[in-house]
Amino acid sequence: GDPRLQAISEAIRVIPDFPKQGIMFQDITTLLLNHKAFKDTVDIFVDRYRDMEISVVAGIEARGFMFGPSIALAIGAKFVPLRKPRKLPGDVISEAYVLEYGTDCLEMHVNAVQPGERAVVIDDLVATGGTLSAAIRLLERMGAEVVECACVIGLPEVKGHSRLNGKPLYILVEPRKIEHCC
Ligand code: PRP
Ligand code: MG
Repeated sequence: GDPRLQAISEAIRVIPDFPKQGIMFQDITTLLLNHKAFKDTVDIFVDRYRDMEISVVAGIEARGFMFGPSIALAIGAKFVPLRKPRKLPGDVISEAYVLEYGTDCLEMHVNAVQPGERAVVIDDLVATGGTLSAAIRLLERMGAEVVECACVIGLPEVKGHSRLNGKPLYILVEPRKIEHCC
């Protein structure tokens, strides 16, 4: 495997019982504080996508915004923010997704992508895949081709998940299970 991945994993802080009992929160803010691990993370995505004729990097609010723009700039693509409801000022399309309790929604400006553009979707973490599924639907409704979804953290079982509608999923590391000082 890639020798950089171990250090990336170790730069992610795990906070038990946040935001509620039983959740091992995967805190990527400590990864952002570690220049080498942050740069290696972005570089791995850039190396993967630079020769794939990607013209759209779509990042999911909020934590997808922390990785997506750097990748977009490096591969010569535009960055498209997929935002929580009522944040984007122009004409938008919306897609709901299911959460543990209730639903949430992502929105995209209708003029952000053109039919036929090749896109990757970036987020920090995939859990159920519901958020990524809404992102895929937004891009496909505007005629874009979603080449792949990419996250820093994900369970290997989520690959090929039905909620991702057959789209490939690229993940760097699995969730950390232990408390770790960094
Ligand atoms: C978290 C995470 C992913 C999503 C993954 O975002 O950053 O976007 O949940 O969950 P899923 O695969 O089950 O859909 P969250 O909406 O909690 O908020 P944030 O990114 O705005 O902090
Ligand atoms: Mg998020």
